Amino acid sequence: MYTFRDLLITGLLVGPVASTTLPLRRRATNVTSSMVSTTYGSVFDTEVTIGGQSFQLLVDSGSSDTYVMKTGFRCFDKDDGLELTEEECLYDLDRTYNISDTYEEIPNQIFGIQYGAGLASGVMAWEEVKIAGVTVPRQRVAIADKSNPMGDGISSGLLGLAYPSLTSAHPANITDNSTYYYNRIPYKPLLFTMYDEGLIADSYFSHVIARNPTNQSVGFGGYLSLGELPPVKHSDNWAVAPVEIIDEIPLNFTSYKRTISYWALTIPSVSWGRNSSDSKPFQAFFDTGNPLSYLPGRVSIPFNELFSPPGVYSDDLGAYVVDCNAKPPSSLVIEIDGQKFDHNSLDFIYQTGEDLCISTIGVSERVGIAGLPFNILGVPFLKNVVGVFDFGRDEMRFANDVHFDDGSTGTNTTTGDSGDSSDGYVPGNGAGRVTSGGLAVAGIFALAGYFFTL
Ligand SMILES: *[C@@H]1O[C@H](CO)[C@@H](O)[C@H](O)[C@H]1NC(C)=O
Ligand SMILES: *[C@@H]1O[C@H](CO)[C@@H](O)[C@H](O)[C@H]1NC(C)=O
Ligand SMILES: *[C@@H]1O[C@H](CO)[C@@H](O)[C@H](O)[C@H]1NC(C)=O
Ligand SMILES: *[C@@H]1O[C@H](CO)[C@@H](O)[C@H](O)[C@H]1NC(C)=O
Ligand SMILES: *[C@@H]1O[C@H](CO)[C@@H](O)[C@H](O)[C@H]1NC(C)=O
Ligand SMILES: *[C@@H]1O[C@H](CO)[C@@H](O)[C@H](O)[C@H]1NC(C)=O
Ligand SMILES: *[C@@H]1O[C@H](CO)[C@@H](O)[C@H](O)[C@H]1NC(C)=O
Ligand SMILES: *[C@@H]1O[C@H](CO)[C@@H](O)[C@H](O)[C@H]1NC(C)=O
Repeated sequence: MYTFRDLLITGLLVGPVASTTLPLRRRATNVTSSMVSTTYGSVFDTEVTIGGQSFQLLVDSGSSDTYVMKTGFRCFDKDDGLELTEEECLYDLDRTYNISDTYEEIPNQIFGIQYGAGLASGVMAWEEVKIAGVTVPRQRVAIADKSNPMGDGISSGLLGLAYPSLTSAHPANITDNSTYYYNRIPYKPLLFTMYDEGLIADSYFSHVIARNPTNQSVGFGGYLSLGELPPVKHSDNWAVAPVEIIDEIPLNFTSYKRTISYWALTIPSVSWGRNSSDSKPFQAFFDTGNPLSYLPGRVSIPFNELFSPPGVYSDDLGAYVVDCNAKPPSSLVIEIDGQKFDHNSLDFIYQTGEDLCISTIGVSERVGIAGLPFNILGVPFLKNVVGVFDFGRDEMRFANDVHFDDGSTGTNTTTGDSGDSSDGYVPGNGAGRVTSGGLAVAGIFALAGYFFTL
């Protein structure tokens, strides 16, 4: 686990772009925070300061709470509930939260959240929170003292970027940790507060996710920008889509209100490989906290057969296992607002850090949580776009042709040949490869690690 820190210290991490401290209650410019890519390019963290203490928090557009683990927290196994050591939760134990002068516990409430990856619980509190140089003097945050293993070796918690209806404060008499989807006391998440208090210039966050070389465990992860666009080159031809209410979400999940919760839209068509397509529309949501994307079986099953050799579905992993040197399919094109958004084929194989590779395109119907077959566009899609998530206008905007200024990182990587052609293919270039035995557990964890709260 400490390997992550060592790597950071030796400079793989590009520092915050401009976290200059600005006066309170004044709109900042250059409100951009760089992200760290962990767990072999599948998980992304950014620096957040809570009560004067700095943490790396997992950037998650599939949930809405900001939580940090408190010093002395307890760790429990996800499956049998047995207590584990703190280390086994994989959070950064050098950076756990200590009660500060600005801490004020919120009475009669608890924090409790269930992600695909597991549970975290604790108390709700007011705290001073700073990100990318912007300080919110008094924000509701969650201070967790129990968790299942959900760290990545660097993170101390999570930064939730979805809508208020998904926040996870509950009445204090809720003691059954299997009911965290329900009984919510909704509150205003961090970014909503920042905009309402005039601290950021516009009502959105945006991100661009960097692509690291294959087999690199930790590296530069891209940018998260608040109220402005990230500092990368991209197409100016934006696809625009209104945020939708997901039809399948039960009313009791969103406090009996039919309301926006995830960053969801309708995808009218998908095409893949050389000549396959499907034009039955489906709803999907965007999730930076999900290492994989999940698409309807009528798309994802034939897609996974196009790997050469073909992917083999593993019930245990809930994913297709592929040869680490397989030739991936040549394309996966998602239509949004009449525009076609393709993937780079490099993003179809997730190298887990063990001798195990899986396809990044999963089957929605096979991973339904709470019985709901959600379609999710996760990290593999988001590595190919600049995404803008506008909670003031309730719309999302996407641009492709992304190029980082430093051509050596990020998405300006040539694709090479693919599984549905016959030529040889070498995924990635192996440059700057970092291997570390210490990552094994985090790698496997991420297979089951959906960070969205259902
Ligand atoms: C953002 O920061 C960069 C580098 O610090 C600076 O050159 C640029 O002028 C800044 N832009 C704005 C809008 O402040
Ligand atoms: C959730 O509750 C179960 C049953 O009481 C318990 O075994 C488990 O440790 C709890 N998990 C967490 C993360 O609190
Ligand atoms: C909180 O205190 C503990 C020691 O009690 C220390 O190890 C830890 O580094 C502190 N956390 C931060 C973020 O400074
Ligand atoms: C918690 O308290 C509220 C208000 O008193 C009550 O309506 C609810 O049934 C209680 N829930 C539980 C799980 O005890
Ligand atoms: C929530 O609603 C769904 C669908 O109506 C139902 O199946 C489920 O039992 C409800 N859960 C709770 C805890 O009320
Ligand atoms: C797609 O192309 C492959 C070979 O290139 C061919 O076997 C297959 O029949 C084609 N499928 C369709 C739907 O045209
Ligand atoms: C990445 O690692 C896997 C397993 O260790 C290996 O099979 C594969 O060839 C490596 N890929 C690259 C591009 O180095
Ligand atoms: C992207 O990569 C190509 C090929 O290496 C290079 O020609 C091009 O200049 C790069 N574009 C940018 C914007 O970095």
